[in-house]
Amino acid sequence: MAGDHSGLNKEEMKNIALIGFMGAGKTTVSHALRALYGLTEIDTDQEIVRQEGRPITEIFATDGEAYFRQLEHDVVLRFQDVHAAVISCGGGLVMNPENVKNLRTSCIIVFLTATPETTLLRVKDSADRPILNGHMDVAYIRMLQEKRRPAYEAAADICVATDGKDVETICCEIMQKMKDFS
Ligand code: S3P
Repeated sequence: MAGDHSGLNKEEMKNIALIGFMGAGKTTVSHALRALYGLTEIDTDQEIVRQEGRPITEIFATDGEAYFRQLEHDVVLRFQDVHAAVISCGGGLVMNPENVKNLRTSCIIVFLTATPETTLLRVKDSADRPILNGHMDVAYIRMLQEKRRPAYEAAADICVATDGKDVETICCEIMQKMKDFS
C-alpha cells in the first residue's frame, strides 16, 4: 500500500475526519488512507500525547477528563487550516458540539461503526483507554455506544460499518461516498 495511486484532486478535496467509538478502526483506516491516497495523517490523541509529553491514561489520572476534553477542543482548532488530510478523532471528541462545528469547516465527517462484540475484540488487550478501565465487557460498550450514538449520527456526513471488512474495502467505501461531496 505504498504511494499515491488515487487520482484525487487534493487541491479541492475536503479533509476526512474519522469519528466513532473506541475500536471502530479509526487509526487503522487513517494509516491506510495515508498509504493509499497520500493524505496527511493527523491523530488528535497522538497530538495531545506529544504536546503533553505523557500518555492519555496519565492525563486522565492526574488532571481529569475535563482537562483532556479541553486539550481535544484546542487540537481541533489547531488543524483547521490543513489540506488533503485525514484526521482521526478520539472517540469522545464529537460529544462536544463545538468540536463538530469546527471540524465541519474543513472536513467531511466519516462515522465508522462496529458492533459491541467486534469492538470488545479490538480493544480488550489495550490498557490505554481510561474510559474503558474496569469496563471491558460487551454490556458496558453497548451502553456507552448507544449513549453516544445520537451525537455520532448527528455529526456524520458518511457512515461506514467496519465489521468483517478488510481495511482496503473500508477505504474504498469511504472514497466512493466522498464523491457525493465533491
Ligand atoms: C476516548 C477515546 C480515546 C481517547 C480517550 C477517550 C473516548 O480515543 O481519546 O481515551 O472518550 O471515547 P480512541 O477512540 O482513538 O480510542
